[in-house]
Amino acid sequence: MSVMSKRVAGFGATVFVEINNLARQHNAVNLGQGAPDFDGPPEVLAAAVEAVNGAMNQYAPGIGMPAVRAAIACHAERFYGQKLDPDTDVLVTSGATEGMFAAILGLTDPGDEVIVFEPVYDTYVPNLMMAGVTPRYVPLRGENWTFDPDELAHAFNARTRVIIVNTPHNPTGKVYSRAELRAIAELCVKHGVIAITDEVYEHILYDDALHIRLATLPSMADRTVTISSLGKTFSVTGWKIGWAIGPAALVHAVNQAHQFITYAVASPLQAAAATALDLPAEFFQNLRASYQSRRDRILDVLKKSGFKVFPPQGSFFIIVDWRGVAPAKVQDDFQFARWLTSEVGVACIPASPFYQESDKHLGRPFARFAVCKKDETLAAAAERLSRLSKY
Ligand SMILES: Cc1ncc(COP(=O)(O)O)c(C=O)c1O
Repeated sequence: MSVMSKRVAGFGATVFVEINNLARQHNAVNLGQGAPDFDGPPEVLAAAVEAVNGAMNQYAPGIGMPAVRAAIACHAERFYGQKLDPDTDVLVTSGATEGMFAAILGLTDPGDEVIVFEPVYDTYVPNLMMAGVTPRYVPLRGENWTFDPDELAHAFNARTRVIIVNTPHNPTGKVYSRAELRAIAELCVKHGVIAITDEVYEHILYDDALHIRLATLPSMADRTVTISSLGKTFSVTGWKIGWAIGPAALVHAVNQAHQFITYAVASPLQAAAATALDLPAEFFQNLRASYQSRRDRILDVLKKSGFKVFPPQGSFFIIVDWRGVAPAKVQDDFQFARWLTSEVGVACIPASPFYQESDKHLGRPFARFAVCKKDETLAAAAERLSRLSKY
């Protein structure tokens, strides 16, 4: 008999394990995982060190340290005009990942349905399965990764409890438009459905893209839990400091689960989170400009190497169609990622893991490159990718 529970037996290893191992083995430039290879702002790092040395090393309150909850509420007001009560409307979680799982556990019952857009960030569906909830997929298609409003309307039914919206979107870099969010909001209101949003890339935006928070649309403040985290904005993905914000009743439900998953989140890193969230406007402007130049650089190289590119509006990622570039022996996205990593020396992520089993073919033509890397890394990747023309 297997020691593994039925709950987890169907989960494979995440694709990142294989690609990271292969990248190490072949000394490839790793544009796979969405983790910066540079450090966060020095004042934020210093705040964490100061907190560790300042005896801030015991359990924080389960819902989060008061100063951090205040900083999260201030950030939401500063960027989106939201008015939140830091004592009831803000919960600090162990990254957005735990925030999402706690939100699903706190807001759904076994047998419910939850709508997700496909391609879908890889933790949501395993979370739903562990919660005994059925995912219902709505495809994003075409150059702009849009959904068909009729298809979305059909996905809602009497069992629908929640819709998950990730904007800016991993893996496509799509930023949901106001019209798209309005269509989602209208269906949520009509069917009494709660929205959980994942906005970890809220500050990584390209060209004139505008990040709109679903919670700020009419009638959505009362039915949306917004999740975000420090990791991407402040280049500290290893800290795992996140938050879930929204109306008190929803946040309380999320905390009902959170209190028995992690109970409380790393105190000194929370203390540094307040410093991070309070950084001046200049920090956020510079962040955006630096990512714009990273994205433009890699987009240009990918285009010149012959890939069909899907320019992202936000996030760390660029999706390409690899079929015009790879040699004939490469037949699918996994083979492409392995080939590029081992023979060209640049690691990327195949796209099919972001699709459910019956839709894997939709992801086969695509691969995902991460641009959250320092100049030297991007230069090395560019140099290797430019050799692709010889194939
Ligand atoms: C869409 C999305 N949500 C959540 C996460 C993880 O966030 P955290 O590290 O705060 O748990 C990631 C990281 O890649 C992501 O891409």
